[in-house]
Amino acid sequence: MGERRVNLKVDLAGIELRTPLLLTEGPLSGNVASIRRAAEHRLGAIITKGQRPEPAVSLTPYIAQTRERSLINADWSDMGYAAWLQAIRTLKADLPVPLIASVAKNYVSPQVAADQAEALSEAGVDGITLCDYNVPALIEAVRLTRPRVKCPLIAKLIPFIPNLEEVLNDLVAAGIDGIAAMDSVGPVMEIDIETGLSTMGSPDGEGYLSGRAIRPITVRYIYEISRHVDVPVIAVGGVTDYASAIEMMMVGATAVGMCTAPLLHGLNVFDEVADGMERWLADHGIADVNEIRGLTHRRQAQRLITSDKRAVVALERCTRCDRCVQSCFKAAPEMTDDGLVIHIERCVGCGLCVSICPADALCLD
Ligand SMILES: Cc1cc2nc3c(=O)[nH]c(=O)nc-3n(C[C@H](O)[C@H](O)[C@H](O)COP(=O)(O)O)c2cc1C
Ligand code: SF4
Ligand code: SF4
Repeated sequence: MGERRVNLKVDLAGIELRTPLLLTEGPLSGNVASIRRAAEHRLGAIITKGQRPEPAVSLTPYIAQTRERSLINADWSDMGYAAWLQAIRTLKADLPVPLIASVAKNYVSPQVAADQAEALSEAGVDGITLCDYNVPALIEAVRLTRPRVKCPLIAKLIPFIPNLEEVLNDLVAAGIDGIAAMDSVGPVMEIDIETGLSTMGSPDGEGYLSGRAIRPITVRYIYEISRHVDVPVIAVGGVTDYASAIEMMMVGATAVGMCTAPLLHGLNVFDEVADGMERWLADHGIADVNEIRGLTHRRQAQRLITSDKRAVVALERCTRCDRCVQSCFKAAPEMTDDGLVIHIERCVGCGLCVSICPADALCLD
């Protein structure tokens, strides 16, 4: 009951979000009806699917669930600039949440991207994201776009940019108001072993990976990005539940995007994640979600760095499931008639058993 008193509002570069959750670029934000449906859920803003000048059709199939319950996609479908501008005007008339428009920069020159961004800004969008696999071209597009739009300008990054700090400095100097990271990871491939074929209909069978499989990559990326920039950061990649949303804010995110989770589980996932965040914050005595932003940076700076810890078992909690015995590559845990014994002289403190124990009976000490 007290849950609703927790504040979930955040300020994303001047855009007020009622919750930190965003629907990000993808099929659910690529048409008017779906955007309207999404706005009925507990998200703070919607980032539209990236558009290119002419309508495009994807080769089928172009979205498939992987065996790890993530997604591969080769989704290039979109409406083209003219139809999309019309759709944006229609939506802006009454959409109850901010609408951030994506310009898929990789299909066009920086100049064309800036023209399109200006047109979207004039159509009334609340923010613009620019995305490009070609990082120097992205920086150039930001430079050209900045003086032409009044709304906040966000650069969306691909994963694994080698000279990240330099790129971030260039983007800030070019005038961005926020960073979003990251786009799907790839190219990747999965094979249907009954046909021997790729699950994607693209000519080379390639696609891009999103969803829970990429979450730890995003966590590290946001941790790194938020170390180097002061502008707000949107974390997107592998968020599926309240724990992963909170985790992203702890490593420095101001807002948290989802694309795959609502595709696989429906738009209700926004309500479940927002409710779960409120519950978790209330249970931990935290009144405002903004308090957890960057917590990991502060905690990591204070932690004890050691190689001296070893596994310890709390016998009263151990259910004798044997999992630690099976997993330890040093054969340190042994199940005896009297319960689990850890042969401390063999244990190297790797922590694997602690992380897999289903009864929370192990710790490193
Ligand atoms: C089917 C599909 C289509 C996507 N289309 C776009 C797009 O047009 N522009 C873009 O910047 N990102 C696009 N993305 C990437 C997502 O916005 C997001 O960055 C990525 O999937 C990681 O987040 P997730 O794990 O929550 O899906 C797409 C992702 C999927 C799964
Ligand atoms: S994994 Fe945990 S519960 Fe299972 S035997 Fe080891 S200590 Fe006991
Ligand atoms: S910490 Fe590592 S080495 Fe020690 S008991 Fe657990 S799994 Fe074995």
